[in-house]
Amino acid sequence: MRHLLRVLVGLACLEAAFSVEIVPGHAFDRFMTIWLENQDYAKAAVDARIADLRRQGILLTRYYAHTHPSQPNYVAAVAGDYFGLNHDDFVRIPENVSTVVDLLEWKNITWAGYFEDVPGPGYMGNASDGSTGNGGWDYVRKHNPFVSFDSITNYGERLLNLESFGAFQRAFSAKQVPQFVFMSPNMMNDGHNTSMEFAAEWSHKFLQPLLEDGAFGNAERTLVMLTFDESETCSEPNHILTLLLGSAIPQALKGTQDDTLYTHYSILSTLEANWGLPNLGRYDVGANVFRFVADAAGYTGNRDPDNAASVNNSVSYPGLLHDDPSLRLPIPAPNTLLVGAGGLPVLDSIKKTWSDTAKAPTPYDGSGRVFDGDRNPPAYNPPAADPS
Ligand SMILES: *[C@@H]1O[C@H](CO)[C@@H](O)[C@H](O)[C@H]1NC(C)=O
Ligand SMILES: *[C@@H]1O[C@H](CO)[C@@H](O)[C@H](O)[C@H]1NC(C)=O
Ligand SMILES: *[C@@H]1O[C@H](CO)[C@@H](O)[C@H](O)[C@H]1NC(C)=O
Ligand SMILES: *[C@@H]1O[C@H](CO)[C@@H](O)[C@H](O)[C@H]1NC(C)=O
Ligand SMILES: *[C@@H]1O[C@H](CO)[C@@H](O)[C@H](O)[C@H]1NC(C)=O
Repeated sequence: MRHLLRVLVGLACLEAAFSVEIVPGHAFDRFMTIWLENQDYAKAAVDARIADLRRQGILLTRYYAHTHPSQPNYVAAVAGDYFGLNHDDFVRIPENVSTVVDLLEWKNITWAGYFEDVPGPGYMGNASDGSTGNGGWDYVRKHNPFVSFDSITNYGERLLNLESFGAFQRAFSAKQVPQFVFMSPNMMNDGHNTSMEFAAEWSHKFLQPLLEDGAFGNAERTLVMLTFDESETCSEPNHILTLLLGSAIPQALKGTQDDTLYTHYSILSTLEANWGLPNLGRYDVGANVFRFVADAAGYTGNRDPDNAASVNNSVSYPGLLHDDPSLRLPIPAPNTLLVGAGGLPVLDSIKKTWSDTAKAPTPYDGSGRVFDGDRNPPAYNPPAADPS
């Protein structure tokens, strides 16, 4: 009897653990982004496997990464700035810098990062040998942005959300994939140590089960975003190929393209618009929202920034993480007067953390202008509410 009771209690607990409520969004109920490495738009666009995937989704034709090399692009996508980072070495970003994780958790949206060949949940090392290839390091910290933020690693529950591809496959089989997922394949499968063809072949194969009807559960619309972190040719503007796929893509838009100008900051603004989230008060505000999501959310702020014609994004601007000491600057204060694509102000906890610098000059103006360390350096001005 006592044994039976224990079994019943055990079952009830299991059920509770699994019945996490899904927070519905305007255009999708789950967002998954998968990051490949270092290819130019022009080369990716003519690949046969990419072309096959294109038929099932929306091709973003004017998507630009921020700088070179890899790491700053990953950091930008989760934090709305890369803080001058211009290298792939170990960095730690102070706890007072918030990320997408703070926005998602505010709305009780479940999230995870999955990293192929990471040796265990929450691993904080620089690199680890993998399962593919010839014994070289395969998991690399520079492709895992979350682990560089003290605001994530200082909290055990957050750290434990940084898991392996095995954990993803288990969650997928159980139809328990979190609502926000960031995935980095290993250094072979992402194309870094291999080729465009290798990465496209891997992606095509990996994505097929994810794109089947009901793959994640019948009622849920999943948006799958396949992207490259940066282009290969550093002397050309940082133009990369990005595809939107999955059950969230409206039937009529399959096989179409969207010519709006996007950057990795558009990931943040799109999440904010879709789920009605507050914002980070950084470059997330003003970044264009993926058009079909903007349409579903009633967001009308998309436009070409006034410096669109000069976008190059090949060199990092000055900041805390620059490897040249003469180009270091403190972390800029967020502009706490901005309203983001979710129609909400800056997250309350960010306002509180940065209250002493609420009037400090800031480069974040909500204009959607694109900055780099070459032709478009950021300009610091007193915070203002309206995009200038
Ligand atoms: C990680 O790399 C940094 C230099 O980029 C080095 O200082 C540090 O010791 C390395 N950590 C480990 C655990 O090897
Ligand atoms: C943010 O944290 C860093 C590192 O602890 C500190 O140097 C900086 O002054 C802090 N900024 C603010 C506005 O609190
Ligand atoms: C998140 O969940 C907590 C606890 O259930 C609840 O109090 C809070 O209102 C929720 N937040 C939002 C934005 O729904
Ligand atoms: C990938 O390339 C790096 C150099 O960029 C090398 O150190 C590493 O061993 C390679 N990994 C594999 C699995 O070949
Ligand atoms: C982009 O920046 C790189 C690096 O500074 C430079 O070599 C290249 O000429 C620039 N391209 C354009 C089109 O301005």
